[in-house]
Amino acid sequence: MNFKPGKPVVAPSILSADYTRFGEQLDDLHAHGVEWIHCDIMDGHFVPNISFGPMIVAAARKAWKGYMDAHLMTFHPDDYLKALVDAGTNMVTVHQEAVPHLHRSIMTIRDAGLHAGVAINPATPVHTLELIITEIHLVTVMSVNPGFGGQSFIESTYAKVRQLDRIRKDLGLSFLIEIDGGVGAGNIQQLVRAGADVLVAGNSVFDSKEPGTQAQRLQKLADTAHNHLT
Ligand code: DX5
Ligand code: ZN
Repeated sequence: MNFKPGKPVVAPSILSADYTRFGEQLDDLHAHGVEWIHCDIMDGHFVPNISFGPMIVAAARKAWKGYMDAHLMTFHPDDYLKALVDAGTNMVTVHQEAVPHLHRSIMTIRDAGLHAGVAINPATPVHTLELIITEIHLVTVMSVNPGFGGQSFIESTYAKVRQLDRIRKDLGLSFLIEIDGGVGAGNIQQLVRAGADVLVAGNSVFDSKEPGTQAQRLQKLADTAHNHLT
């Protein structure tokens, strides 16, 4: 994966996958040109839901040769790092609100040879990342309160994306901006125009009978918006 802001990428969230047909669905995404999948790990403490852990990430890796990020909606994310490295994820993203020593957590992820990201909740301002922004590969702007798929997109996200894009340009940085929650055909183009690079899509991909086709459709919308930017 080229870590420079450029072509936007749709990243289906496997939280919404059909686990009775998991491998088949991942193959279908690959066959439709999907390059990136998003793995949502929830601990039932930082967020009010439990999803899955490194075991499912490892299972996904068996069927998925592309890029994957692990979004840790957990306290004590450092505790899961070794298992996630072994599971084969490419990136680990921790929540700004969940860790007391963010710099240490980011350096631990990078020292393990992975890309490092920080996620911020809807009520967390962008400026809280000021002293870590030069060290990270990606910022996840949560466009829903984390914990569940299928929630409605929070409109104040656009302003945060524009702010991050401005910071990136002003400082000459190349971190990616990922949007997570409520992304679909109705807002993906506006998000790309605001500066988003990675568009996580759970329900808007997997609610369809043909997730691969749906992901491809979203990717085309994102590409069209991006091509009109220049
Ligand atoms: C929310 C998760 C998201 C979620 C997105 O807590 O971090 O990745 O799966 O799902 P949709 O696209 O359905 O909002
Ligand atoms: Zn997520």
